[in-house]
Amino acid sequence: MNMLLTFWRSTIGKKVVMGVTGLIGLGFVIGHMAGNLQAFSGAEKLDAYGALLHGPLHELLLIARVVLIAAVILHITAAYQLTMISRAARPVDYAGRKPQVSTLASKTLKWGGVLLLVFIVFHILHFTIGTVHPDFVDGKVYRNLATGFEVKWVAAFYLVAMIALGMHLYHGAWSSMRTLGLARQSAHPLKRYLPVALAIVISLGFAVIPLAFLLGVLR
Ligand code: HEM
Repeated sequence: MNMLLTFWRSTIGKKVVMGVTGLIGLGFVIGHMAGNLQAFSGAEKLDAYGALLHGPLHELLLIARVVLIAAVILHITAAYQLTMISRAARPVDYAGRKPQVSTLASKTLKWGGVLLLVFIVFHILHFTIGTVHPDFVDGKVYRNLATGFEVKWVAAFYLVAMIALGMHLYHGAWSSMRTLGLARQSAHPLKRYLPVALAIVISLGFAVIPLAFLLGVLR
């Protein structure tokens, strides 16, 4: 227990916690995206998948929820404490210092992270609990998507949140690779192939669902 506390109190410990909890989040979003894409196979398929999660796999879902909530809390706490540590290390900024790419990246990470948190709360109230959904029917996952995305500003909010998710994954993946020494500072941000590919595939993989309902490809 003592060793765990000492580890958590160190800067590197917090960075490792951020990386591990980030990976847990990444695993979840990849699984969730793959599940959502079943919407293209029709309402029956998607609803059957939902029924499987809430029925026979219910216990697994409960465990995943607990792990995910713990991961999100640890991820945010470590991020906040690391920001405070780096602020305390340099309370006054260098005079005449122009904002650098890394400063911009960490700002995007922070504010994108806050937007994602707001999105996740809204999203659970929208599609899981149904309180902010105009016509929620328990167990009718496909129907809930179709009627939920009929509200245009909500669909637009999802698309903006998916851009934030892509940017968060990009910067998060890149900074983890830098921390682990897996990548050297490359000249061009788009040459960071793994983070770029991850961000594009995952944000597009999610965004195609509201887009398909908006464009009438799914109805
Ligand atoms: C366009 C993008 C998305 C769509 C269409 C979507 C769709 C859904 C639907 C339909 C559910 C309810 C499933 C059910 O109860 O059977 C759900 C649950 C959930 N989604 Fe999403 N989702 C999207 C993006 C995301 C993202 C980006 C995250 C996280 C970063 C996320 C996190 C969650 C969580 C935590 C739940 C609750 C799972 C549970 O505990 O039951 N979703 N999503």
